[in-house]
Amino acid sequence: MKKVGIVGWRGMVGSVLLERMHAEKDFAHFDAVYFSTSQAGEKGPDGKPLKNAQNVKDLTDMDIILTCQGGDWTKEMHPQVRAAGWKGHWIDAASALRMDKSAVIILDPVNQAVIDRARNDGLNDWIGGNCTVSLMLLGVGALFKQGWVEWASSHTYQAASGAGAKNMLELLKQMQFFGDRLRDGMNAGQSALEIEKQVGVLMKDAAFPREAFGHPLAANLLPWIDSALPSGQSREEWKAEAEANKILGNTRPIPIDGTCVRVGALRCHSQALTIKLNKDIPLAEIEAAIKADNAWVRLVENDKEKTLKGVTPAAVSGSLDIAVGRLRKMSLGPTFVNAFTCGDQLLWGAAEPLRRMLRQVV
Ligand code: HSE
Repeated sequence: MKKVGIVGWRGMVGSVLLERMHAEKDFAHFDAVYFSTSQAGEKGPDGKPLKNAQNVKDLTDMDIILTCQGGDWTKEMHPQVRAAGWKGHWIDAASALRMDKSAVIILDPVNQAVIDRARNDGLNDWIGGNCTVSLMLLGVGALFKQGWVEWASSHTYQAASGAGAKNMLELLKQMQFFGDRLRDGMNAGQSALEIEKQVGVLMKDAAFPREAFGHPLAANLLPWIDSALPSGQSREEWKAEAEANKILGNTRPIPIDGTCVRVGALRCHSQALTIKLNKDIPLAEIEAAIKADNAWVRLVENDKEKTLKGVTPAAVSGSLDIAVGRLRKMSLGPTFVNAFTCGDQLLWGAAEPLRRMLRQVV
């Protein structure tokens, strides 16, 4: 049996990954060896002592390394294990290696052909994509694969989980902060405007929990995710075009750009898409292509009740569904398509492509 070294299994993405691996009985297919950056020698989840994630020899004893540890660890250890001549498969959730020439961004329902070509060429660094990009391509990748897309604009509504577990908790603490302090006034029948005024004051209160985000997210939104680039884009916005084209293996990149926004959802990223087609494709053909593309896409009719019931973070959270709705031609012209997608950022957005790649290389 192949030996798979698992690093970063305790964090949020790592925990979701292990949960999925147990659910799919993945562990029957290899020997799992657990590593730690801080608790080597202590008992791991299988009852055996944890290996040291900073020990090159222990790492290179593995056939495969599967990591959700984060970019700093990847940047530290990946060059060392490769320099030691290790030829095993490196499967990584972090973005550190994503745009390297020798790395493939894995999203097998979308780019199995790219993965197959890379395996034939002997590549062995397999990196999970940015969650919004992966979720967009699982939803409407069919249109790109058909060669119908001239350009696309994606405006995102990204959940707190994308910023990390601390941020997710902070969003809930902010809600709790409001709840605790507004309860009496609300119970006493204060008006919406009176309460709203207090919310504005509470957001500026020194005790308001804002350590992780730096700002209120509850009763607010944050139209900037990740660092600033000279183009005026945020790094999250830059990833849409860079990563989507790499995933699709496009030699002529399709322009994709928009504004990425953090909203008060917990673990589902949504996006409003404007897709410019290079010819007038009938809506029925577009619907058929999306439905047939992969087993997880769930196309919802452009109907108010069905949309509000099925194309929301509340409807999708915790499932592998990729909901696609609001599909219609826009008043801008017959080559402009509107769509709205929603997917679980921790599942298809992070863990699922990794465990599926692991199964492939095992
Ligand atoms: N960068 C994403 C976000 C999550 O901040 O929501 C990881 O892909």
